[in-house]
Amino acid sequence: MTSTPNPPHAARYPAGGLAFPHRDLIGIGQLERHEILFLLDEAEQWVALNRQATKHENLLSGLTVINAFFENSTRTLLSFEIAGKRLGADVVNMHAAQSSVKKGETLIDTAITLNAMRADAIVIRHGSSGATQLIADKVDCPVLNAGDGQHEHPTQALLDALALRHALRARGAAAEDFTGLTIVICGDILHSRVARSNLLCLQALGASVRLCAPPALMPVGIEAMGAEVFHDFDAALEGADVAMMLRLQTERMSGQFIPSAREYHHLYGLTKERLDRAAKDALVMHPGPMNRGVEIDSEVADMIDRSIITRQVEMGVAIRMAALDVLTRRARGVAGWGEAA
Ligand code: CP
Repeated sequence: MTSTPNPPHAARYPAGGLAFPHRDLIGIGQLERHEILFLLDEAEQWVALNRQATKHENLLSGLTVINAFFENSTRTLLSFEIAGKRLGADVVNMHAAQSSVKKGETLIDTAITLNAMRADAIVIRHGSSGATQLIADKVDCPVLNAGDGQHEHPTQALLDALALRHALRARGAAAEDFTGLTIVICGDILHSRVARSNLLCLQALGASVRLCAPPALMPVGIEAMGAEVFHDFDAALEGADVAMMLRLQTERMSGQFIPSAREYHHLYGLTKERLDRAAKDALVMHPGPMNRGVEIDSEVADMIDRSIITRQVEMGVAIRMAALDVLTRRARGVAGWGEAA
């Protein structure tokens, strides 16, 4: 039996129960603020490890992690694969395009098949909202949502929070949470699981969130989630501390939502001139993949002192290592994390 690593900010977590009692990571909406902070704190050790020449810690030795991706991905798939391998797991990637899904196998039968192979964790990306929960209900191991339709992309929001925390701390801020910060999320809010997960995560950590999109790309009634809604990007940026840009999710659009990419850039593209409306030294974020010249100009995306886009990618590996470690503690028999299944 291995020992429980000491959480660096254990005083924040409730006494008694587990710091993270969930079997799965389906959405930020299911997490308490202290559970989000726990995962961020846990990731710090992996940020440090990943910056060393040798990046290996055999915590998950003997465990099998299956990455089942039914949609394209660069960052999420690679970082889950790297995360699992750096923790010593056997990692297998299943791409839907080369699987029996193409022969008509259902999602549930695919899940039952992966479960029968005794996976120890399954990471799912799927185009349908709710697909990850559906699979979690059918299998015996932890399931991690790597993005499901327009619903949630929890590890993206967590890595964004970790990247922002690091950027603020690098500027000398305490950055325990984001209280007092105003963060603009601008782009295709309607189709974006990243926007939804980030709205929930940033608000849980104390930030004020402004959502900005053309009317056709803003979900009706989103104000009920506590965000300020803008259709004028210049107004949304006024005095903001962070601008988080999202691409147009054309793969999820049926019909024409914007007149043209050029028109969209004119009204909603982040240019250097437009960024000047935000707070002095405001930070720039983007989950990727970027469409340069549409939602963001290269001049802004590549600003060394303001853009933290590559830091977001770096933090993606650390957050996914933390998630895989924490969610497999019970199966590994880590002391204090419940009986092994
Ligand atoms: N941000 C994100 O999910 O990127 P990928 O689609 O490349 O995984």
